[in-house]
Amino acid sequence: MTTSRRLLVLIAATATAALYGADAPASWQEHCAKCHGDDGKGDTKMGHKLNIGDFTTSEMQTKFTDEQAAKAIKTGLTDDKGKMRMKAIEGLSDDQVKALVTFVRTLKK
Ligand code: HEC
Repeated sequence: MTTSRRLLVLIAATATAALYGADAPASWQEHCAKCHGDDGKGDTKMGHKLNIGDFTTSEMQTKFTDEQAAKAIKTGLTDDKGKMRMKAIEGLSDDQVKALVTFVRTLKK
């Protein structure tokens, strides 16, 4: 491989990684769907166990602000008794968290 080709491959790989990082649907699938479901309805085994609200309803969407949503993703959520409801999702950049909050808003039907 010539040096310029190698450089091209490197640039392509970096661009893919950057794209993936900003790809909220992909990170939703990876980090969130097992509890909240692909469509955000919470119709999953974990969702039922945790009695998760349905993100497709305006009732659920008005329960939290964007700031609260970002905080839940970054630091997790506990109930009134301090019991863990949603654990902090680690390894996300601020941009990814922001993109996920935007994504959650698009789940509303
Ligand atoms: C271990 C299961 C689990 C995972 C994984 C999970 N959540 Fe949650 N999440 C919950 C539970 C439980 C609640 C509380 C829902 C309720 O009270 O109806 C919640 C609530 C929320 C809320 C509402 C916050 C608030 O203040 O009420 C948002 C937004 C949210 N999750 C987004 C996400 C995103 C985005 C991801 C992935 C990065 C994610 N969740 C991953 C279980 C999970």
